[in-house]
Amino acid sequence: MSPTELGTDAAPPTGWVEPSPSPLLLLLGSKDDLTSERGVDCPGDLPAPSDPDLVRRATAAKEALGDRAFVLGHHYQRDEVVAFADVTGDSFKLAREAAARPNAEFVVFCGVHFMAESADILTADNQAVVLPDLAAGCSMADMAGKNQVDDAWQTLNDLGIAGNTIPVTYMNSSAAIKSFTGQHGGTICTSSNAKRSLEWAFSQGERVLFLPDQHLGRNTAVRDMGLGLDDCVVFDPRKPSGGLSADQLRNAKVILWRGHCSVHGRFTTQCVDEVRERIPGVNVLVHPECAYEVVSKADVVGSTEGIIRVLDEAEPGSSWAIGTELNLVKRLAQAHPDKTVTFLDRTVCYCSTMNRIDLPHFTWAMESLAAGRVVNQISVDAETAQWARVALDRMLALPA
Ligand code: 13P
Ligand code: SF4
Repeated sequence: MSPTELGTDAAPPTGWVEPSPSPLLLLLGSKDDLTSERGVDCPGDLPAPSDPDLVRRATAAKEALGDRAFVLGHHYQRDEVVAFADVTGDSFKLAREAAARPNAEFVVFCGVHFMAESADILTADNQAVVLPDLAAGCSMADMAGKNQVDDAWQTLNDLGIAGNTIPVTYMNSSAAIKSFTGQHGGTICTSSNAKRSLEWAFSQGERVLFLPDQHLGRNTAVRDMGLGLDDCVVFDPRKPSGGLSADQLRNAKVILWRGHCSVHGRFTTQCVDEVRERIPGVNVLVHPECAYEVVSKADVVGSTEGIIRVLDEAEPGSSWAIGTELNLVKRLAQAHPDKTVTFLDRTVCYCSTMNRIDLPHFTWAMESLAAGRVVNQISVDAETAQWARVALDRMLALPA
């Protein structure tokens, strides 16, 4: 079945009357192809982000679906989408939550594509994972293509060092790369368990191939594991042998893939200096996808879940400049009126792909499910899923 196919085998609707005609069709497709937004004229009167009519419709669809649908929301999602989430979390927590819901017929993933793929891998075959907008990808995950990673592994093989190199792959990667990882004895990690994953990997082999975020890899290896910066090399997939000599690859403890997050790449050391000047006594709190130099200048580093915890535990009256996605920072500022919470960069910076999941798409997905049509289903093929699951299970089995 094509993942975008309409009308797949959801149970027939009970007591659900689909609004008709649906104004969402104007936003989401033409009569010829209801799943496509491409080439559709803007009708000129887009609803407001929290349009009360859409809120009412999404609420009605969610009520009609009841326990059949479980809605997961990543911390970077828009407020109006988070309002509908049954649970919010970082990518690690959401993977666990998806795996822990065997009775939900539909898992509606308000996050990005790689997260929905992981949910599909961790859920049963009779459960459908739905991503309300298929364009919600991740530029970092796209930086490691399967062929590129296979070629890199071949390079290590030719040097005779693949056998004692363990792949550690960040959750922000395609199912194909997770599958590669499982097949080659490696594990997945997230920003909240990268240290434990590297410790495990070094108990299995001599060297780590860290994919695809060089910053998380370097920050974890150097700051958390005590390795030197010169124990790490950066493998550039666009260059022969990654742009590295045989000796550089042989001597490296950590081979970092040349990938990064475009959102966290915006935070610079100048941002840190500037905010310290502007707000005396400010605490700088950043996500480990920020560059090593930025993380080194920060006071605290944490995954999205970790950042939330730090703010919850912070002293009233304290000041925080936060280097992560803006939807989360805005919500933290609202949740902590007794603290000063500011964005680390002066420029507004959302994750544009996370923001693709908006209320119109969410409403459309929920109404479609309520009407018996499974739309935007994310399905990972069985062979890819089998090995990706091996890698994900290794991560889930790591001690907490
Ligand atoms: P978390 O693992 O902290 O949820 O981060 C995911 C992500 O995409 C950060 O950019
Ligand atoms: Fe990907 Fe960066 Fe967006 Fe996270 S914030 S989903 S890593 S592009």
